[in-house]
Amino acid sequence: AKAPVNVTVTGAAGQIGYALLFRIASGQLLGADTPVKLRLLEIPQAVKAAEGTAMELDDCAFPLLAGIDIFDDARQAFDGVNVALLVGARPRTKGMERGDLLEANGGIFGPQGEAINAGAADDVRVLVVGNPANTNALIAQAHAPDVPAERFTAMTRLDHNRALSQLAGKLGVTVNDIKKLTIWGNHSATQYPDIFHAEVDGRNAAEAVNDEAWLRDTFIPTVAKRGAAIIEARGASSAASAANAAIDHVHDWVNGTPEGDWTSVALPSDGSYGVPEGLISSFPAVSRNGSWEIVQGLEINEFSRERIDASVRELEEERDAVRKLGLIK
Ligand code: NAI
Repeated sequence: AKAPVNVTVTGAAGQIGYALLFRIASGQLLGADTPVKLRLLEIPQAVKAAEGTAMELDDCAFPLLAGIDIFDDARQAFDGVNVALLVGARPRTKGMERGDLLEANGGIFGPQGEAINAGAADDVRVLVVGNPANTNALIAQAHAPDVPAERFTAMTRLDHNRALSQLAGKLGVTVNDIKKLTIWGNHSATQYPDIFHAEVDGRNAAEAVNDEAWLRDTFIPTVAKRGAAIIEARGASSAASAANAAIDHVHDWVNGTPEGDWTSVALPSDGSYGVPEGLISSFPAVSRNGSWEIVQGLEINEFSRERIDASVRELEEERDAVRKLGLIK
């Protein structure tokens, strides 16, 4: 039998945690032949709630669940970690400026990066879900100089899946018929869902849609503002869909993306597509042999260029702000 994989989940007592842990323990993260040990990290006030979730995990009698440990200390939680899902974050509260938000999250993701640097397994893979996800990932990565930078990623897979669903609805097809869609930039309202390289049943998706007004005024804002629409409808933010996207992201990273398709991942830029090196920005990417590779050679038209640049500019502003706060060099 395979050795268990250590999966650390932060914010384990939160609503995404509740939707995520059962799917990890059932084998959907890594595959049905891989046992997992869960390492849950919470703040002290939420440890009891995490213990409650752990009781329910026990009660599922998942054959692949090899153990659950609960921590309120990052060093312990990340000791030996193979897959780190950084979900817990400081949400923006009323009257909070962006600088305050970045600083509060720097206080979480800096020490977590250090703890990963100190104790993670050599093959560690990190997915940051907690917002502002791209910049939180940048902060964590900056605090883990001994871990290859490309092991730090942030989640735009939920945006990717939302875009797939919206496009499928527009064209009257299923998501299975759509390939090669891309989310570029920041996981924020400036993100750019790009269908110019997407294929629908082998046809170019932008040509199949043939409606620039829909693209500009409906599709892009619907995808970018979907999170707010969910809060409005549900009275709580996306949780099961966010957990599902985290599962998809790590599953593809470990097991590879399907031949003839790609997905969207925020990862440290190597300068591709004019995105400044080191910024954690969303790109079209395939996973081969356990590593993400940015899809190269796509032609970027003017419509796309403008939007990618705007989102990348926002990422640069966030990076400059955390630099100013001394959270990164
Ligand atoms: P939640 O508020 O229900 O849960 C967050 C949990 O994190 C809480 O239990 C809290 O105690 C814990 N936490 C806070 N600081 C911590 C720390 N330093 N260490 C460990 N745990 C800590 O929030 P929810 O709904 O689960 O969302 C979590 C994050 O995911 C939020 O930042 C949210 O904005 C983000 N998100 C990101 C998405 C994406 O597509 N990238 C989609 C949806 C949500």
